[in-house]
Amino acid sequence: MGILPSLLGQGAEDLKKWDRPVPRYTSYPTAPQFIALGEEVARERLQAFDATERPLSLYVHIPFCKTMCLFCGCSVVLNRRPERQASYVEALLREIEGTAKCFSKKREVSQLHLGGGTPTSLTEEELARLMETLHRCFSFSEKAEISIEIDPRTVLADKGKKLETLRQLGFNRVSFGVQDLDPRVQEAVKRRQSAEMTFQTYAKAKELGFVGINIDLIYGLPLQTPASFRETAKALMELKPDRIAFFSYAKIPWIKEHQKAIREEDLPSTEEKFQIYVEAREIFLEAGYTAIGMDHFARKEDELTLAYQEGRLTRNFQGYSVQKADDMLGIGITSIGYLSGAYLQNVKTLEEYHERIEKGMLPIFRGCVLSEEDHRRRWVIQELMCRFRIDKEAFEKTFGLSFDLHFAKEKTLLDPLLAEEDCGEVRATPLGRLFIRLLAACFDQYLASGTYSRAV
Ligand SMILES: C[S@@+](CC[C@H](N)C(=O)[O-])C[C@H]1O[C@@H](n2cnc3c(N)ncnc32)[C@H](O)[C@@H]1O
Ligand code: SF4
Repeated sequence: MGILPSLLGQGAEDLKKWDRPVPRYTSYPTAPQFIALGEEVARERLQAFDATERPLSLYVHIPFCKTMCLFCGCSVVLNRRPERQASYVEALLREIEGTAKCFSKKREVSQLHLGGGTPTSLTEEELARLMETLHRCFSFSEKAEISIEIDPRTVLADKGKKLETLRQLGFNRVSFGVQDLDPRVQEAVKRRQSAEMTFQTYAKAKELGFVGINIDLIYGLPLQTPASFRETAKALMELKPDRIAFFSYAKIPWIKEHQKAIREEDLPSTEEKFQIYVEAREIFLEAGYTAIGMDHFARKEDELTLAYQEGRLTRNFQGYSVQKADDMLGIGITSIGYLSGAYLQNVKTLEEYHERIEKGMLPIFRGCVLSEEDHRRRWVIQELMCRFRIDKEAFEKTFGLSFDLHFAKEKTLLDPLLAEEDCGEVRATPLGRLFIRLLAACFDQYLASGTYSRAV
């Protein structure tokens, strides 16, 4: 068990107790609480937002991938047909124009993220048309974060030309999947991406002036061992990416059938999986990275680290950010937005999406209008996810309620190994920081009613 006993105190028993299914809290209430919503509710929310002066964050979902990585839990459409993609882009443009028409003026955008799937599966012309439409319909603030998820396997064949185009189109941040550098692991998940490809993509993105470059890694993949992943982590420390997202493999085969193709006996045990995480985390911290929030690390000089240290970090579906834009518009299939106190999610299939867009409808089909209590708990969970602590006085100031009285029952649920209380705050212990979603779960009123991936 390596360094586990010193970290865990009582050891493997606690780990078993903590390795239970809990949400990742990219939203609160979480998706299982979403209910069917008619278009009129969505239009009401757009109008309520229209009455404010707040900036917007935009998320555009591009679901297409040419091959399926066996671990993938994202919303993906396997596709090799260019015309299918082209008609999706047409529909996206119509959704953007239709939504923007619901506002009485061009709204300010402080953050745009193209996520997937693989947004770089779009052609340069398609990307240019998308950006032209977004700029025509919205007003981007000067310091807007404009980011895109790229797949290294799609941006090197043209010697980086697509990356150059992205930069010219105004993108200033990129993020890409690496997962693991070990060819055996890559083979087991059917994602072949040489270390050279990863290093070249990073170098090209740096050369072009992208900032806050992020790489995604996953622990808990088949054939991974603590020793094998130490090699990956050390090799990546030569690269020194600006940011690292280090995700726990979310195993949800009841939703993602293709995950069943991963052989059960190839997966690391819970103890091994946790050890992989802890050891790699130490390598990142020793190399000077800061653990800024759940799963995320950033270099000392990165703006996310500064924001974390100054308590300004925010988090939404797109990850951590320094931009304060609570309101978010989701565009494209499956995307989730948050507008004036309500989550709104778009339909999940291409067929439904095209049908609604052709009828001139908003493609929103479900969501959740937050109650006052939801807002309080959302605030608390956000504090834990972005600051690893809850400032009780700030809660009282924001909601006019005593934190101790209001959450008396929830406080009894906090495991003393994971959370401590003093000086007016509830704080994650060093160990609790590794299990922050378990602490968040203590404040989740609906926990019993969802099925989630496990905490380790
Ligand atoms: C949309 S992909 C990133 C862009 C591009 N498609 C790629 O793979 O390079 C988002 C990231 O989610 C993470 N991810 C996907 N499925 C996951 C799962 N089941 N558990 C944990 N992380 C997962 C991966 O790290 C992946 O890089
Ligand atoms: S990890 Fe990325 S490339 Fe692989 S299937 Fe998922 S979205 Fe597509």
